[in-house]
Amino acid sequence: MQRRNFLKNSTKGTAGLLATPLLASCSDSKKEKTIAGEQPILKPIVICTWDFHNASAKAWEVLEKGGNALDAVEQGVMIEEADTENQTVGFGGRPDRDGKVTLDACIMDKDGNCGAVLCMQNIAHPISVARKVMEETPHVMLAGKGAEQFAYEQGFVKTNLLTEKSKKEWVEWQKTSQYEPIINIENHDTIGMLAIDANGDISGACTTSGMAYKMSGRVGDSPIIGAGLFVDNEVGGATATGVGEEVVRTVGSFLIVELMRQGKSPQEACKEGVKRIIAKNKDKQDFQIGFIAINKKGETGGYCIQPGFTYRTYSKEGHANNPSDSFIKT
Ligand code: GLY
Repeated sequence: MQRRNFLKNSTKGTAGLLATPLLASCSDSKKEKTIAGEQPILKPIVICTWDFHNASAKAWEVLEKGGNALDAVEQGVMIEEADTENQTVGFGGRPDRDGKVTLDACIMDKDGNCGAVLCMQNIAHPISVARKVMEETPHVMLAGKGAEQFAYEQGFVKTNLLTEKSKKEWVEWQKTSQYEPIINIENHDTIGMLAIDANGDISGACTTSGMAYKMSGRVGDSPIIGAGLFVDNEVGGATATGVGEEVVRTVGSFLIVELMRQGKSPQEACKEGVKRIIAKNKDKQDFQIGFIAINKKGETGGYCIQPGFTYRTYSKEGHANNPSDSFIKT
């Protein structure tokens, strides 16, 4: 199986939005010393995987105007789904080995309601279809043609998601069709986003085009509730990026939320989540996983396997691209 390694984060198209000074890391490591209950809740706040500044800025805009966390995360990740320069999410994403762009997404709200679409083609905003699945159907997941048909019924427009750039790369890739560990075929990956609104309610969203040149029909962690995303409004939320198969094997995001329920900080919980994956992969660590989490107090954390993963936070304290601590240090 091909293993991607994400060593750099992308800042493409984000410079113009840097309206306030960058903060130092918002990881809760510096807050761990505070006694529970003494620290005021930091809300509203949004956190997302990687340096998706435009997406977090959009979510913040929604929250700042008094919008709810569900709208914030949906509208936030839609920015990346629409960005054709981003080849790991939505429109412009890299295709599978047959040249088809297939998208995965899920969304979860404060009441534990959730919706997901898996391996869906021709629809530019899978997160919004996932929300429709949550709100308009008795189901949680719709896959493939069924998801696409449902999207049309809901008024979504058919869109060719394969851009010339991604097509060219795919044609080039076909010359070897090698599907094995290649360092850095992408700079960043899935966007997972978590938000707490002014009411203190939490929602999350996760969306991706998945592993480039994957087998037809392959689905990763991102649309799987509990793996790529989990929210419990009493505790917090977690979301993941990286090689989805490994996140699924540990039910990573659910694990992290449960660890927070048991008293771990978001930072500690993310670290433990990564350690569980490492324990299952003692002989091969040439892949990347990044987890981020937020708890009910608005404390955040992130942890990954390879150095280079970052996560963005946006609150009234400002916004920051936070370097994540990693299991492998160099
Ligand atoms: N984390 C994205 C995927 O594995 O598809």
